[in-house]
Amino acid sequence: MKKNKRLEMKGISKSFHGIPANRDISFSIESGEILGLLGENGAGKTTLMNILYGLYQPDSGEIRINETQVRINNPVESIANGIGMVHQHFMLIQNHSVLENIALSHKDTPFFFPNLRIREKIEEFSKSFDFNIDPAKKIWQLSAGEQQRVEIIKALLNGADLLILDEPTSVLTPQEIKELITILKKMKTKGHMIIFISHKLDEIMDICDRVLVLQKGKIAGRALTGDTDKKSLARMMVGREVVFNIKKEKLERGRQILSVEHLTVIGDKGFPALKDISFDVFENEIFGVAGVSGNGQRELAEAVTGIRTVRSGSIRINDEDITNTSPRHIYDQGVSHVPEERIRFGIAPGLFLYDNAILKQHHLKKFSRRYFLKYEEVKKHAKKILNDFNVSAHSINSRIGNLSGGNIQKLILGREISEKPQLLVASHPTYGLDVGATEFMRNHLLELRKTGSAVLLFSEDLEEIFELCDRIAVIFDGEFMAILDSGDNRLDDIGLMMAGSKKI
Ligand SMILES: Nc1ncnc2c1ncn2[C@@H]1O[C@H](COP(=O)(O)OP(=O)(O)OP(=O)(O)O)[C@@H](O)[C@H]1O
Ligand SMILES: [Mg+2]
Repeated sequence: MKKNKRLEMKGISKSFHGIPANRDISFSIESGEILGLLGENGAGKTTLMNILYGLYQPDSGEIRINETQVRINNPVESIANGIGMVHQHFMLIQNHSVLENIALSHKDTPFFFPNLRIREKIEEFSKSFDFNIDPAKKIWQLSAGEQQRVEIIKALLNGADLLILDEPTSVLTPQEIKELITILKKMKTKGHMIIFISHKLDEIMDICDRVLVLQKGKIAGRALTGDTDKKSLARMMVGREVVFNIKKEKLERGRQILSVEHLTVIGDKGFPALKDISFDVFENEIFGVAGVSGNGQRELAEAVTGIRTVRSGSIRINDEDITNTSPRHIYDQGVSHVPEERIRFGIAPGLFLYDNAILKQHHLKKFSRRYFLKYEEVKKHAKKILNDFNVSAHSINSRIGNLSGGNIQKLILGREISEKPQLLVASHPTYGLDVGATEFMRNHLLELRKTGSAVLLFSEDLEEIFELCDRIAVIFDGEFMAILDSGDNRLDDIGLMMAGSKKI
């Protein structure tokens, strides 16, 4: 057990261009505690933690460790004070190995035999926390969960006794989430402090001792998880009742929109990622693909939207063959795409919000005349998306990179959905969204279904899949294990099918 430590943030305020992101926030945390940080998209969680990690300076307020005021001017000083952070979007160098990544950021890499020593340390930590990580592997070979473990080891090897995790579970598979939770609980018993940001209330209730709720930059409430429940936390966060159940009405399916036949696609590593897959999706239907990530979901979404070459088989939209045609052509056939890694591929971070609101649509008549964009129209459209999808941003003239993580997600979703596609290909449409926005987005997908769109939905969240889908395909190792109607009692075995142990 580590010796007792207490860290306190006191009266912290921070504004960007005169607009407050944090207002007079105070809280403390002690050894062996896990503190949950909750709040809607844009509430100021990442900003507050970036201040603690030395990435931003507060306008006012102070940080105290064991009653002594400390100044944290940058991450190096924060590490020296025993603070580590795993960011909302990972910051590892893809072409380097685990060992190299850790050595690069290590605060006292030994002069003699550095590789050997650091490898020994990685192995020692892996053992004591039950991590399973190969130091020689390159980062790009690792799953999101493994990359995250590298970030955690990096922080621990630097002596962090406070670990900040900013939405650590939104990119993980259910199995990886379980493993992460075990690791965090173990860290707690060893006396570490953890600040855990998540939009998933089940996780917060499971692992946190206390919760701090932010709303519009201010503290909206505090609670002990032992004395509260999910409903009250959601109410504290959103300021109204959030319905956790969504009712899907029965609908007859309409015409066939998407038809995929004998599709085979090669993945990045040179092996077939999809093997002879066939299915159709109809009007008024949400077709879900459930599975552990990495089993061909991404390749399927990419093949249908034209960004990955099809090896054999065919894809038809409204009975027109679109196999291996351009993404633009496919988009013009009424196919929209919410990609998996949307922060990387869904936006142009340096551009303004209004430019990002029409990415891929700039060629449409309503937005351009010959070579010129009709900025009036573009801005009007951007304003409408902000309004309809509750994107909280200072103005449409902001740079998109300055929006909070969840608000970037909302903008991309709004852009792709607002054109009312015939087919929407949506990968994990609610990750990173707060509870209110999740509820809103799920209802929106049902609205698309009702008004005649077809939706191809990829999600690892079984609750989401069950709530929304008319039919569910279970994918494993590039093949469908089964295609089931909602209500089919074989759905009880979906876990086994996702693990590849049962094909029906
Ligand atoms: N560098 C910046 N420049 C300008 N505004 C910023 C900057 N960083 C954050 N903001 C603004 O501060 C507010 C709080 O953002 P923050 O990222 O802290 O929210 P969050 O609670 O982490 O939300 P999410 O759940 O969506 O990740 C937002 O309005 C955001 O636009
Ligand atoms: Mg954030």
